[in-house]
Amino acid sequence: MEIQLTGKRALITGGNSGIGAAIATELAKSGARVAINYVSHPETAEQMVADIQASGGEAIAVEADVSSYDSVGRMFTKLDDAWGGIDILINNAGIDGAKADTWKAEIKDWEAVIAINLMGSFYCARQALERMIPQQSGVILSTSSVHEVIAWTGHSAYTASKAGLSMLTKTLAQEAAPYGVRVLALAPGAVKTTINKDVWSDQKGLADLLEKIPLRRIGEPEEIARMAVVLVSNTASYVTGRTIFVDGGMTDYPDFAHGG
Ligand code: BGC
Repeated sequence: MEIQLTGKRALITGGNSGIGAAIATELAKSGARVAINYVSHPETAEQMVADIQASGGEAIAVEADVSSYDSVGRMFTKLDDAWGGIDILINNAGIDGAKADTWKAEIKDWEAVIAINLMGSFYCARQALERMIPQQSGVILSTSSVHEVIAWTGHSAYTASKAGLSMLTKTLAQEAAPYGVRVLALAPGAVKTTINKDVWSDQKGLADLLEKIPLRRIGEPEEIARMAVVLVSNTASYVTGRTIFVDGGMTDYPDFAHGG
């Protein structure tokens, strides 16, 4: 089955690195027009645009800090100017944040994680829905994490932001469903990107991580991106209000493989 997203207008926040970049690339391969949002490293976004155009696709790079509602508003105005609206929003921009036990965490670090991961997703969803509801079509897919259900010491802001994203997804899905708009989240496990390079590039860290993954390997960004393409396409036309886990079994309590 080949998925066609020909002409669909997609915005990918945090689209110039890691999972976001892989999703942008796969969406473009399926025929979507992709707007690659970045907050830093414009050169990587521009290079992706050039690569997509070179293979016959359509792409633009759009700067915005998703933690600022004004900045998000300006980005959507740019999309209106370029393509007259939006069909697919990938709420992907996110950070793990500084690792610290909560009683020692810096307030500004905690706030930054919530501002980018949760508020940023809400800001972009709000703008996207303003456009999708009247046109009675569209899909919002947010990059959540296995940590929307797995606690993670030292990362309370991150886990809270992803658990929040899960309920935001369900509630937005309920609100938007009567208008034919689907809202979903995708929860990757450990995927090989720079966000967790300190863990997988360290031998002990890697061994510990693999213990937590029944498939015994780290995921590749493309494995997340392929599922993202399926979820935003009509192949998943009856799926809404859920988080889909793509985690090599990480949420399958691998410790129980040894009794209990
Ligand atoms: C985090 C990664 C981590 C993975 C599994 C992701 O949400 O961003 O840093 O490796 O969860 O724990």
